[in-house]
Amino acid sequence: MKILPEPNRSDGAAGSAAELRSWKREIAPDKVVGLVATMGALHEGHRSLIRRARQQCDLVALTIFVNPTQFGPGEDYSNYPRTRDQDLEIARAEEVDLVWFGNSDEMYPDDFATRIELPSLSAQLCGESRPHFFAGVCLIVLKLFHLFEPDRAYFGEKDYQQLVNIERMTRDLDLDLEVVRCPIVREADGLAMSSRNVNLNPAARKEALALSRSLFRARELWMEGEECPVQIRQQATALYSSAVELDYFEVVDRDHLVALERIEPGRGAVICVAATIDGVRLIDNIQLEPR
Ligand code: PAF
Repeated sequence: MKILPEPNRSDGAAGSAAELRSWKREIAPDKVVGLVATMGALHEGHRSLIRRARQQCDLVALTIFVNPTQFGPGEDYSNYPRTRDQDLEIARAEEVDLVWFGNSDEMYPDDFATRIELPSLSAQLCGESRPHFFAGVCLIVLKLFHLFEPDRAYFGEKDYQQLVNIERMTRDLDLDLEVVRCPIVREADGLAMSSRNVNLNPAARKEALALSRSLFRARELWMEGEECPVQIRQQATALYSSAVELDYFEVVDRDHLVALERIEPGRGAVICVAATIDGVRLIDNIQLEPR
């Protein structure tokens, strides 16, 4: 497994883009390259992305970069878990070919000026409380797509709004790669895997289950014939204790993320939820399949 920048470089992480290009020239021509972009603190959800890439590609590149442009003032950029050694162990175990650590000075020099925005997909849901977030994600993902030129890039459905933004950017800008959707991986009790889960203390970890439970309940209601988002929301979120500071629980159209007044049985929908529990912001979602 190759690690870039080379761990023994005297100048730390700088130069990783140039090193990457020469690695690619040597190793990657004619190979199908799969990219798994992450911010590290790898868990089973990331493992599932890597495994899928491993199955479908000749070379698997894993990026680990806590991307500053997707964090706003007062958010958890400095607190975001960083677990380099553990991440490298997982990467080795999953037979990743290349692990690349981004460096923010190199990724965003002082005179960096470009923005990427998809206003119709990024203002709602998480965008209301994190207005900078999707512009930051799309910017780094587009940079990674250019640096790695992958044939396929793997993203989890857990971050559904992020996934839809990345898919649309890829289509709108005619990027020559396939974005592969990978299903949410849950703990045995239903909690969606997230790097932020490690910041939950045992009491908050218990409270956090309310999110997945409310989504499972909502799906049941849908399966039983309920088509009204207001009803679904009311009944599903009635399960929340006061420990759950709800940001949103929205039934939206799967492609455009527009809030629905009624769910058309033949079209289905997706329900996205975000809440803060004991200072840790969590998101989750569930697909309401057409019926
Ligand atoms: O989902 C994430 O971990 C990040 O938002 C991503 C896609 C790696 C961009 O920094």
